Amino acid sequence: LIAGPCSMVMFGVTGDLARKKLLPAIYDLTNRGLLPPSFGLVGFGRRDWSDEDFAQYVHDSVEAHARTPFSEAVFEQLRGGLRFVTGEFDDAAAFEELTRVVGELDRTRGTGGNHAFYLSIPPGAFPQVCEQLANSGLNTSRDGSWRRVVIEKPFGHDLESARELNDVVEKVFRPEDVFRIDHYLGKETVQNILALRFANQMFEPIWNANYVDHVQITMAEDIGIGSRAGFYDGIGTARDVVQNHLLQLLALTAMEEPVSFEASDLRAEKEKVLAAVTLPEELGAHTARGQYVGGLQGGEHVRGYLEEDGIPADSQTETFAAIRLDIATRRWAGVPFYLRAGKRLGRRVTEIAVILKRAPFLPFRSTDAADLGQNAIVIRVQPDEGVTMRFGSKVPGTQMEVRDVTMDFAYGSSFTEESPEAYERLILDMLLGDPPLFPRQREVELSWKILDPITAFWAEQLPPTPYRSGTWGPDTAHEMLARDGRAWRRP
Ligand code: BG6
Repeated sequence: LIAGPCSMVMFGVTGDLARKKLLPAIYDLTNRGLLPPSFGLVGFGRRDWSDEDFAQYVHDSVEAHARTPFSEAVFEQLRGGLRFVTGEFDDAAAFEELTRVVGELDRTRGTGGNHAFYLSIPPGAFPQVCEQLANSGLNTSRDGSWRRVVIEKPFGHDLESARELNDVVEKVFRPEDVFRIDHYLGKETVQNILALRFANQMFEPIWNANYVDHVQITMAEDIGIGSRAGFYDGIGTARDVVQNHLLQLLALTAMEEPVSFEASDLRAEKEKVLAAVTLPEELGAHTARGQYVGGLQGGEHVRGYLEEDGIPADSQTETFAAIRLDIATRRWAGVPFYLRAGKRLGRRVTEIAVILKRAPFLPFRSTDAADLGQNAIVIRVQPDEGVTMRFGSKVPGTQMEVRDVTMDFAYGSSFTEESPEAYERLILDMLLGDPPLFPRQREVELSWKILDPITAFWAEQLPPTPYRSGTWGPDTAHEMLARDGRAWRRP
């Protein structure tokens, strides 16, 4: 499917996300022939840039970060639709100019009155931008054309602020025109959770409390916070990635089969499972919180969180979070879901490991049950995308000895097709008006409902425990699982 005629107005175009992900994704879509020649891209920001300056900026960002090979000819197609409007987010005159520019694109480029507004800006600036869009009438479409708004997380920092933020946006755009980005949903391997579960016969029958012992969802990063102190400090891992990415992974792993893959059916199933999540009674024993200190990472010495630029020396922000959640449904009663995420961990890996119960009986005298691991189905989200299954097999020889082996499916070797980047998929879907991969407000609110009691408890009673960079988090995370007689996987 190819997007129809349209333009995209990008706020926050000089930010990291736009430079490294959004602009390159737009180029890659153009390169793959998925954006029409009648596509326009308007940057809006404070810089005193001409259209040519903006074009040069887009050129440089695309050349450095696009996934598909850079071609001047493809860039030329994009260049004809590049415009820049200088202004502050509350500057009415600048929004008048923006109205003129998108109108000009409609006439000269044929963008058809279809405009998407991409807010790649801090949520604090949403009210100003939304108000100006409304005042200038840019939020409303005429003659069958469309207007959409794209917002990036964080959708608030708790339930209350998420609601306030949503009110600001939905006062100006209709709910069906609001596209909330959780870029994990744009990842192939995340969508593959649904294919694995619902396109096959072999997984669903055991995907429940009768066979599953527990589930571990890990999102480990080797990087620190880099230059994002201003955003990260005071936010921390739970709000940065657990509220959105990890709870979305949990929802896809645990939800019932949707009636269809239409947005409303898919979202309804995710919401049902999020609404059924229960928190452990003793949050101190079943959650863990950490903060990295200096250490060795990839053979290099790296500094601790408190030594990073812009971080106050007494910051209590966590860079690691581990949380046990339960799901009060027939399918999952008694099956803990352990979530962990952190920065400066052993290596970059995101995976969902469904760990099965042990076989009830082992008839082999020469195999000690304790030597065998538990069967596992591991969805490898990234890097090294694929699925691993672990099970016991006979060791060659005259004895009936059984040992764990793994069987791998790897995207790289099974498919020749290249995976699009998450943002390519999401931007294209948004331009097509196809919403299944975008969470709606109720999911956002349910996720904050899960997280709010935990972050409140942490703020009062659980300061982060230090862990050395390059390790797998604080001891408290390991103790948390040991208390349940379990251990984290070493990915
Ligand atoms: C973002 C977080 O949502 O996801 C970052 O704000 C994190 O802190 C990033 O680094 C990780 O994304 P990915 O796609 O590299 O796993």
